[in-house]
Formats: sequence, C-alpha cells, structure tokens
Amino acid sequence: MSVNWSLPFDERLVPSVGRRPVDVSQYVAEHKASLSRGTAFWESVASELDWKRRWDTALDSGSPPFYRWFAGGLLNASYLCVDRHASGARAGKPAIVWEGEGGAGGAPESRTVTYSELRREVESAAALLRDEYGVEKGDTIGFYMPMVPEFPVLMLAAARLGAKFTVVFSGFSSESLGERLADAGARLLLTADGGWRRGSVIPLKQIADDAIGLAPSVESVLVLRRTGKDVPMVAGRDRYLDEALRRVPAGASVEPEDMASDDPLFILHTSGTTGKPKGQVHDTGGYLTLLHATMNWVFDVKDTDVYWCTADIGWITGHSYVVFGPLLEGATTVMYEGALDFPKPDRWASIIERHRVSLLYTSPTAIRSFMKNGDSWVDGRDTSSVRLIHSVGEPINPEAFNWMHRHVGRSTVPFGSTWWMTETGGIMISVLPGRSMVPMKPGANGFAIPGVEVDVVDEAGRPAKALERGFLVIRTPWPGMPLTIHNDPERYKEVYWTRFPGSFYAGDYAVRDRDGYVWVLGRADEVIKVAGHRLGTYEIESALVQHPSVAEAAVVGVPDQVRGEVPVAFVILKAGAKGGEALRQELVLAVRERVGAIATLRGVYFVSKLPKTRSAKIMRRVVRAVVAGADPGDVSTLEDEASVDEVRDAYRQLKSEVDGTRA
Ligand code: WTA
Repeated sequence: MSVNWSLPFDERLVPSVGRRPVDVSQYVAEHKASLSRGTAFWESVASELDWKRRWDTALDSGSPPFYRWFAGGLLNASYLCVDRHASGARAGKPAIVWEGEGGAGGAPESRTVTYSELRREVESAAALLRDEYGVEKGDTIGFYMPMVPEFPVLMLAAARLGAKFTVVFSGFSSESLGERLADAGARLLLTADGGWRRGSVIPLKQIADDAIGLAPSVESVLVLRRTGKDVPMVAGRDRYLDEALRRVPAGASVEPEDMASDDPLFILHTSGTTGKPKGQVHDTGGYLTLLHATMNWVFDVKDTDVYWCTADIGWITGHSYVVFGPLLEGATTVMYEGALDFPKPDRWASIIERHRVSLLYTSPTAIRSFMKNGDSWVDGRDTSSVRLIHSVGEPINPEAFNWMHRHVGRSTVPFGSTWWMTETGGIMISVLPGRSMVPMKPGANGFAIPGVEVDVVDEAGRPAKALERGFLVIRTPWPGMPLTIHNDPERYKEVYWTRFPGSFYAGDYAVRDRDGYVWVLGRADEVIKVAGHRLGTYEIESALVQHPSVAEAAVVGVPDQVRGEVPVAFVILKAGAKGGEALRQELVLAVRERVGAIATLRGVYFVSKLPKTRSAKIMRRVVRAVVAGADPGDVSTLEDEASVDEVRDAYRQLKSEVDGTRA
C-alpha cells in the first residue's frame, strides 16, 4: 500500500536555461518520441563513437535480464578516451588537471597532463602490465589508490589491454578490500605508499598488505610512491611503480585490444542488505554510449570547458564522471586529491577560482558542509567561471540547492540533481541543459533522459498517482546497465528483476509531483547513504556480531544535517556481557576497522530485544521508523511489540549523550 507522502516540496519553478529551454509538455513529447524509436534511438547515439567494427544487433534480448547492447560491435575504451584526442587539435589540451592536497601543510601542488602526454603514459603503463606482468584480455586488476593522475592512467592502461579493473574506495578497510579483491579474482593489485587526506597519510600499503591475506588471487603488487614514506615491501611480490616503469623502453607502443561491446570493462562492488557485496559488471559499448550521451545532454560539455567532478574514483561517480565520461569527450577533467575544506573551508572555491572551473559536479553533503562553514568562504573567491552545476548521490534539500545556486550559480546557471546508481552506469534522471531543459525545481531530479523509461509504482507495480510515494523502476533496458553480478547471475535476477517483473527495481522511494517531475526520496531498502557513500547494513552488522560480547545487531541510518544520514546500531549482548561506555567504544572501533572510517557509528544502543517477525527476521524498517520518530506502520507481524518501546527508550535515553560525542 502506498502512503501519501507530504514533502517540503518547493514547487517554485526556476526558469529554464541552457541550450534549449522547453516547457514540460515539450520535453515529454520529445522523450516519448525517443522511446518510440526503440533501440534505433540509442544506435544513433552509439554511432557518434568511433567503433572498430559496427555492431550487428542493437540489443540482444535473447535471455532477459541479461541484455547485450551493440552485440557484435568492437571498440576500446582507452582508444576512445585517449588516442582519438592525442593527435590533432587536442594533443596539447590538458586532459587531466590535478591538484594535490599539499601534504601536511596543505599548499596546493598541481600537475597537468595533456592528451598527448596521457597517451604516452597510458602506453608505458600498458607495456609494463603486459610485458612484466603478462596482463592480457580477460584478466582482472585491483586498484586501491589515492586520487592521483596515475590512477586514471592505470585504469586506461588496463582497459587498453582488455583487462577489467576493479576499484575499491581508499576509505574501505583491509577486510572490505580483501573481500572485494577475492570476489573479483584480482591477480595484480595497484596501490600506493599512502594518500594525503586532511594533512595526514592514509596508510594504503599497510591496509593492502592485510587485505592480501584474504585475497589469495593477488600475486603481485605495484606501489606508487606518493608520500615517500617507507612501507614494507614483500620480496618477489611487491615493486615500486616508478622503478618498474623505468624498465619500459621509451616510446613503447601498445595497440588497443579489440573488445566486444559486451566485454566487461570493470567490476565495482556495491553493498547491500544481505550477503556479501555485489560485484556489478559493466560492459564496454553500452557504458560508453551512455556516458557520451549524458556528458552532452546533462553537462553540455564543450572544448572550452574546465570540468570538475569532486567524487572519488573509488565510487561509480568517479569512474563515470571523473575518468571515462570527460575523457571520452576530450574534455579537461580536474582531479583533486584531498578534502574539500582543507586546509581552509574555501579550498573547493579556490580550486574553482584558480582553475577557472566551468562545469561543476558535486554532492549534497559537500554543499551542506560549504553552507555550514559560512558564506564568506565562498563569497571571498571568484567562482564566476561556473556556468553549470549538478549534484549527485543523495536527495538534495531545497535549502542546500538554493544556497549553492545563489552563491556559486549567481541564481542563473543550470543546476540539477542527477539520479542514478552504480548499477545504472550513468545518469538516468536529470534536467538536460545541453539538450532540452525544463524549468528547475530546487530538490527535484526531473525527468528520465531520452531513451530511458522510468516509473514510480505502487506495491503491485501499478503507476503511483501524483504525490503518492512509490518505488522507482526502470521499464526498459538501457545502455550502461550491468551485464550481471560477478559470479552470481541468479542474484542479479533476484535483486533487481523479480520484484516488478520486466522492470529494473532500483531500491529507491520516489514521487512524481503534479508536473511529472521525479523526486527520489531515499532508499526503500536497508542501504545507508553516509555523505553520499553507499553502505550496506549487513557489513556493519557482521562487524558487530564478530565481537565476542555481541549476540545480535541491527544497524539503521539516522538523519544528519550535513552527511544526510549516519549509522547507529542497536545491539543485543550475549548473556553475561555488560554494556557500557567502554564496550560502546570498542564496537565503534570494531566497525571502523572491519568496514572503514566512513561507516563510523554515531551511536550504539544496548537493548534486550529487537523488533522481529515471527520467523525471527529483524524488522529494520520498524527500527528505522522508531529512531526517525515516525509511526512504525503495520506491526502486526511483530513477534513482540514491547521491543518497539525498548528501542525507542534506548534511543531517547542515549541520544543526547551520544550527540555530544560525535565521531
Ligand atoms: C541515491 C551514486 C536522490 C539513491 C551515483 C541511489 C540519489 C543511490 C541521487 C545510488 C539523487 C543518487 N537524488 N538520491 N540525485 N543520486 N541517489 O550506487 O538512493 O553510490 O539508489 O551511486 O544513491 O548510490 P550509488
């Protein structure tokens, strides 16, 4: 049953801007026309890329939901992102403009890599991987790297050889890293002696060493020198990247491997509610086609632009919109190593000022933290180069939208909230300043991009009424969709394609307003978005129950003014164990160590029972409602209703105390 959802809707229309302002009915007609062309629509987009061989079949839907886009086509991502631009007019154009955080002092370091330099670096790296490590088509290479130019260079080198890359965010712990490397079957791991963050070093190599114990597939490790600090090196297994590269002959050339459109480009894990992380396998041809479309429609990218996406490459946003999207278009992509507010809160605005950033892609959490730091930090910098802004990762509240639009967007530039997820590969719902742009609404996502059909449906899969909360689904296959879940095709079917047969279930709640705009409200499952980072409750709970005093644990997200939400845990102790401040701290630490600092618990609450169904399944939905102060809804399936009161009391009692000791 759907419930009526009263939102703080800001239905004020901000006049449409961009290349071709349209009203809603014009866009709806244009969108409908794109769908009526079926796969021919996407074929015309794909034709704009340089294929080595054109496809035979636009969409092979022989065994749904395992769709194959552009079957029979051949291409190479490294060729498309590098070689095409490395000679001719863009040869001397900056491909990557990198800014280091600046070590302990925070003074900016920078480095520019032009397209012709990028090609040389990618070819040398590919030669190293091929000649010294025997990397070839079908292999998998793991990445656990800081935000430095070598990171995209090595990803492109892997893609050039036809090897899949599998990146693990550098904020994840050794256990999380080991589990993901093992699942992907990575043979070689690329990491660094450390990475800078807020003036301190993240000891990546040390964490990687621990992770390898859990990932027997890893045979060799290449270590980039970033901090210059000594790290232990295992003889026969580990080498420094710079030393290894010295063995590559100058001007080494490596032909891009011919890749089938449906050959995997990468595996990226997402956390879920149960079981281990899901390795989303993305193809090559469909993925690049979607990136090409969205770089133009959503970002309106032009040769004169300086484009900056503030995401870390460790997440899908970084894969698609720091590395592959902008480079595919021959754009200049800005890459920043560290914290956006280090050493001072205006670091991000000073990056815009110094690099004359024109297209900005960032997150609601970042915007809320800028806001909190005060207007003077941004108003003291010249951000007038910015001509377009988008945000991603979580719903954006109208206040944050309005603040950013006013202080950076001069209340005039296009600004959207692009909805998509790791699984979709690229943006699915957005306003389209580079194509046909409807008026903006602060906080709304907008409409599905052309060629993609989304819907908001009720429990039974019927379209929900306007302003009625429902589930977001994607009705049609789209280029960029996953090929499968690595090693687990059944799970791919079950998680995404069974709840609403024939449609892809995104796992989000959404509403459409009276004008048809989609507003994505947040996850309908137990995924928690901490500062836009996607975390599964399952991994955090398993970290807790590994502690000798813990019998059971339920983890839910609670609202946070800056970070969107943060996790808290309700814990049942084993008989004889005693709760208290010391144990609470131990558990917080256990989660930091087992999952990573991003999963730091805001609170730990000891209870004697948790809301459960009669079949003993913890009802996190009820726990979540209780901490949100909301009505827990239908609790008729609860085994013991007193558990709800217990959770409520524990939360109330400790909330003020815990709020005072924020991590
Ligand atoms: C959420 C990030 C509201 C959503 C690209 C989705 C958003 C999850 C938005 C995917 C947005 C992403 N408005 N919610 N503009 N963008 N989300 O896989 O809950 O890290 O399901 O991909 O982020 O997170 P993921």
